Parts: sequence; structure tokens; C-alpha cells
Amino acid sequence: MTKPPIGGNRTGRKLGQKVKKGKLKASSRRWIERHINDPYVQRAKLEGYRARAAFKLLEIDEKHQILKGARRIIDLGAAPGSWSQIAAKVTNSTDEDIRVAAIDFLEMAPLPGVNILQLDFLDPEAPRLLVEAVGGEPDLVISDMAAPTTGHQKTDHLRTMHLCEVAAYFAVEVLAEGGHFLAKTFQGGTERDLLNMLKQNFRQVIHVKPASSRAESVEMFLLAKGFKGRSGKDQPDEA
Ligand SMILES: C[S@@+](CC[C@H](N)C(=O)[O-])C[C@H]1O[C@@H](n2cnc3c(N)ncnc32)[C@H](O)[C@@H]1O
Repeated sequence: MTKPPIGGNRTGRKLGQKVKKGKLKASSRRWIERHINDPYVQRAKLEGYRARAAFKLLEIDEKHQILKGARRIIDLGAAPGSWSQIAAKVTNSTDEDIRVAAIDFLEMAPLPGVNILQLDFLDPEAPRLLVEAVGGEPDLVISDMAAPTTGHQKTDHLRTMHLCEVAAYFAVEVLAEGGHFLAKTFQGGTERDLLNMLKQNFRQVIHVKPASSRAESVEMFLLAKGFKGRSGKDQPDEA
């Protein structure tokens, strides 16, 4: 079971630490304080994950079993790499037999068993390169992509929603039958047309918010389970 972090100082660091007032802007100081006092950040360090985001995926999996049996996984917006670490582990991916492809426009340190593309997912070449990089039909497409913030909340929101939508259409193009799709979205942000498209293509479509996703954040995850497959799609309509 994914235990909630117990906090405290197993990492040698106490919670409740303050950053000295100095040249930092108050908002930056608040961010640093929140980060160093976050029990999930401390637990990620302790368990060797590159980011606290690992616990979002593990918590969602605990409840909805999306990782079990996955043979190939594509990770969108993967840096610094904690979801890819989990993906490599569950697929037993190795450098000799790669089963995980990851993409991010930021540089990401190498991970054993993960084919990393440093590229914008919106690049027209990205879908083809990802499929080549994972070496076969994936059973799972996961996306934690969030557009870089501009400071204008509505713009940021729309850009992340766009990434979610493009990721969903990509998943429908590449997933193996029975596969699953998980993507970051925002509360109330998923467009009706996108939800309808997913409902047509998957057996179950739900929104989930793991405990490790900060309560004050509007972040949610869209989970589509049980891809129905593409068979019949290319068949001409019966007259
Ligand atoms: C929240 S982080 C992902 C954390 C990751 N799941 C982990 O466990 O380490 C979101 C990532 O999405 C990436 N991203 C946003 N837009 C992207 C795009 N268009 N193409 C590729 N990566 C993108 C960002 O660079 C960022 O690294």
C-alpha cells in the first residue's frame, strides 16, 4: 500500500523549517518553505525517486490498477523522471530490451531501460518517434505534462488542457487494445468533446485526485481505462 508520508525527519531534515528573510521575494520564499517542508518531497528523496510526482502515479495505481501487467509504457512530459522510474520497474525494461519511451523538451538525466526524447510533444514528428522509441504498441500512455507558466492563469490553463487533448488523441492512435491513458488536467477543465471521444474509445473514463496532489491545486488526473481498440475503424461504412 502507498503509505501517506509520516513527515518528520527520517531524511535528517525537520518539517516546519523557515527560510530566512533576505533578498528572496516573499512568494519565492513561501515556495521554498513549502517544498522543503513537504513530506512527499522528503519521502521521494528517501525512496530514490526523482520527484514527489511519483506518489501521484503510485496512489492512482493503487486504487485503479493501471500499471499491473503493462509491457510497454509511453511517458509524456517526463522530466525529471519519477514516473519513468516506475514505468521501467513495472515493465522490467532494460537497455537491452527497452519498454519505456519518455519525452520532455527539458533535458532529463539518463535512466536505465528508458528511451528519452528531448523534444516538444507538439512537434509533428513526436508521435512517430515515440512509437519507434518504445518498440511496439504501448499498454499505457501517461502524461504529467503541464505547460510552462506565463503568469496569466487562464492562458496557462488553456495550454495545459491543449496538451491533455493532444495526448488523448495520441493515446487512441497508439494504445494496444485493453490499454489505459492517464493525463494531468484541471478541475472542471476537461472539454465535453474530449470526454465524449474518450468515452467512445474506453470502457471507463473518470477524474481522479490523489492525496499527494496538493489540495489547494486545481490539478486533477483524467483516467481512461480499457481501450476498446481500433478494429473496425478503417472499415468502410456498410451501405
Ligand atoms: C510536472 S512535470 C513532470 C514530472 C514527471 N511526471 C516526473 O515524475 O518526474 C511536467 C513536465 O512536462 C513537460 N512538458 C510540458 N509541455 C511539454 C511539451 N509540449 N512537450 C514535452 N514536455 C512538456 C515540462 O517540461 C515538465 O518537465
